[in-house]
Amino acid sequence: MEKVRVAIIGMGQIAKVAHLAEYAKRDDVEIVGFVDAELARVEQFARSFARDSGRPVPHVYASLEDLLVNDQVDAVSVCTPNTTHAHYALQVLEHGLHLLVEKPMTVSLADAQRLQEAAEKSDRVAMVGLSHRFRDDVTAIKRFVDAGDLGQVYYAKTRILRRRGTPKGWFTHRQVSGGGPLMDIGVHALDLAWWLMGQPQVKTVSGFLTQGIGNDNVDFIGTWTPLSTGNERNQVFDTEDFAAAFIRFTNGSVLQLEVAWEVNGPQDDALKVELFGTKGGISLDPLAFYGTSHGVLTTVHSEVGMGPLFQREIDHFVECVKTGQHPLSDVRQGRDVVQMLEMIDRSSQEGRELTAP
Ligand SMILES: NC(=O)c1ccc[n+]([C@@H]2O[C@H](COP(=O)([O-])OP(=O)(O)OC[C@H]3O[C@@H](n4cnc5c(N)ncnc54)[C@H](O)[C@@H]3O)[C@@H](O)[C@H]2O)c1
Repeated sequence: MEKVRVAIIGMGQIAKVAHLAEYAKRDDVEIVGFVDAELARVEQFARSFARDSGRPVPHVYASLEDLLVNDQVDAVSVCTPNTTHAHYALQVLEHGLHLLVEKPMTVSLADAQRLQEAAEKSDRVAMVGLSHRFRDDVTAIKRFVDAGDLGQVYYAKTRILRRRGTPKGWFTHRQVSGGGPLMDIGVHALDLAWWLMGQPQVKTVSGFLTQGIGNDNVDFIGTWTPLSTGNERNQVFDTEDFAAAFIRFTNGSVLQLEVAWEVNGPQDDALKVELFGTKGGISLDPLAFYGTSHGVLTTVHSEVGMGPLFQREIDHFVECVKTGQHPLSDVRQGRDVVQMLEMIDRSSQEGRELTAP
């Protein structure tokens, strides 16, 4: 394959700052076109992108079918709001194209299951944008874990607790987002801890979701602002703003999760993970390994930062498309994560611990 011909569905904020920005750095990628519901804005953007990058103006369409009638495409990034991921991701695979779908992969287990089945039938790359897996500091931790330095990991704690950091727009509208911080940032924290634990099989889930503060709109706080029009001041805020969960796995290990867009506590936007094992422990942020050596407690700090995670993610996707390599974050794992997200939400609604089928 000379050049990978790429299209993006949902030419909004993450598409602009991550997917398109990184595809555009590669000479072996041709950016064919965009599909979006807001044609006028995206057509204007396509022209400015072409002017700034020196590349041809990408074609803009209202549907993937329209794009495929006019253009040849190999791979598609799905970057629309959460509740539309399943529809577009299935369409991409059904058309025999390679897929990179943003997180959360879907907002329901039934859709995740359908997507997994479609991915299994397809010989194309089907990858989920679980971008934190591509961080340099996470890659460093994975080396310790894979080498067995932690022994058996029996407990993991993960959290992202923002004092104030509710995204604007559709994120707080459940019909579009499928949920609040659990779907938005909880998916990253949960996935990362679970993946580093070795992807154990879920046994029981106890979840707690609440809207503790709601539409606060404090001044002078920067927050993620999507490009889709509507709900600019979070007028519709019918999701949780805080979520917690306690998950038991069939191998006896346990994961504890806490995420908030807003909480009356100290500001901390960072994704934290701590893994406790029989031989050693490790923490992400600060990056440290806790062990014993020669009868002495040792703490090893590493000088590794986050690195350009989106560049690593997009480069990985393009390399998978070119070489047939299996992606680091695949649709089967995406399905397992969606199962946990759905169980957390349902456990909270029903006010009891749920057992996985
Ligand atoms: N990996 C990460 O760290 C990360 C960070 C931010 C956002 N995201 C994910 O990226 C996705 C998009 O988020 P965003 O902040 O870029 O949103 P956005 O609103 O900026 O972009 C969404 C785009 O999709 C278009 N759109 C909306 N509904 C559509 C539909 N039915 N059909 C076609 N186009 C449609 C909108 O016009 C807009 O251009 C979300 O799933 C979000 O969770 C991931």
